[in-house]
Amino acid sequence: MTEFGAEIYARLDRLAEISAEPGRLTRLFATQEQARASDCVMEWMRAAGMSARVDAIGNVIGRYEGTSPGLPALMLGSHLDTVRDAGRYDGMLGVVSAIACVDELNRHQQRLPFAIEIVGFSDEEGARFGAALLGSRAMAGTFDPVVLDCRDASGITMREAMARAGLDPTGIASASRKRDELLAYVELHIEQGPVLESKSLPVGCVTSINGATRLKVTLIGQAGHAGTVPMADRRDALAGSAEAILAVESLCAERPDLVGTVGMIEARPGAGNVIPGLAAFSVDVRAPQDAVRLDAVARLSAVFEEIARRRRLALSIERVHESAAVPCAHWLMAQINRAIAREGVAVCELPSGAGHDGMAICAIADIGMIFVRCAGGVSHNPAEAITIADADRGARVLLAFIEAFQPQA
Ligand code: GLV
Ligand code: MN
Ligand code: MN
Repeated sequence: MTEFGAEIYARLDRLAEISAEPGRLTRLFATQEQARASDCVMEWMRAAGMSARVDAIGNVIGRYEGTSPGLPALMLGSHLDTVRDAGRYDGMLGVVSAIACVDELNRHQQRLPFAIEIVGFSDEEGARFGAALLGSRAMAGTFDPVVLDCRDASGITMREAMARAGLDPTGIASASRKRDELLAYVELHIEQGPVLESKSLPVGCVTSINGATRLKVTLIGQAGHAGTVPMADRRDALAGSAEAILAVESLCAERPDLVGTVGMIEARPGAGNVIPGLAAFSVDVRAPQDAVRLDAVARLSAVFEEIARRRRLALSIERVHESAAVPCAHWLMAQINRAIAREGVAVCELPSGAGHDGMAICAIADIGMIFVRCAGGVSHNPAEAITIADADRGARVLLAFIEAFQPQA
């Protein structure tokens, strides 16, 4: 059998060069970089015997027909967008590994009793507009058009950005797929956590994906002169935000299964000698149980209100992203575990703390996930790393899964 690892690695290196920022990997939704990455992936798909196209929201879709044309598909894939200053494996590994598997089938002229589709989702991270899972929600038919009015850091709406990038904000419904077109969705992804490494295992089978809520919180006070306004008279929006951010940290530390992060903050007008009149920050809250997450979000909102009242600040809380926790399907987990065992690896089941496109695709297909070990559990960081041997093992497990795949009776 062909060595997958080296080619997967080389292709990931090539994708990592397609970035908006020299020296760092940043590839956001509805950008030129996204279009270049899509072209590159479509070239690989076609070379692997697939047809390839881009849908209205920018998802790249490759299709490898089965023993006869038009059969329902086993859908594989992951996302092609990145966070800012990203690693090169989060998302891309799943797309490139799936292409390597189809390439192998194609080389042996092997057709299966089902089609295979590989999707490179156009936005999973939500790094540009805050709202995440844009590509997979469009495909699942659950895209909320309200998010088209979200603005990026330079004030461009999603609607404008899509039109400028040659995508079709008015035709998003055309990207949706029907349940009877799909047999299942299976995604290979780096673990982004330390479990597999701690057990010395190259791959594992995911049991469920934690739910997530993202907020944009804005506090408005009064801008003023840093030298003249007495401390007691100030309505400092940034100082209020600092208090709110520490509340996120302490409240989410109350339970081991709850996490909360403030990853972005903006203060205006933004000068060293001006009291900040406005501050806006993001909040990301996650937990395996939806009730735990929603309770934390409600309690945080109450804390923010109390801080705003006491400091005489106006408060707005916008829920920019919400996705419920999603279980992986037992019948797919059983087949993934068999593929892992067939590759001679001990079976390990683990939940995903990170979000994935399966959270949206579960509306139209049962989902399963294969995790690949990554160094130190580090992700969303340019230091993200996997070995060539593990990339190879991940692709072999995926191929073993595909070859033995049995749709649910
Ligand atoms: C995506 O990686 C997320 O979990 O936010
Ligand atoms: Mn990510
Ligand atoms: Mn990812």
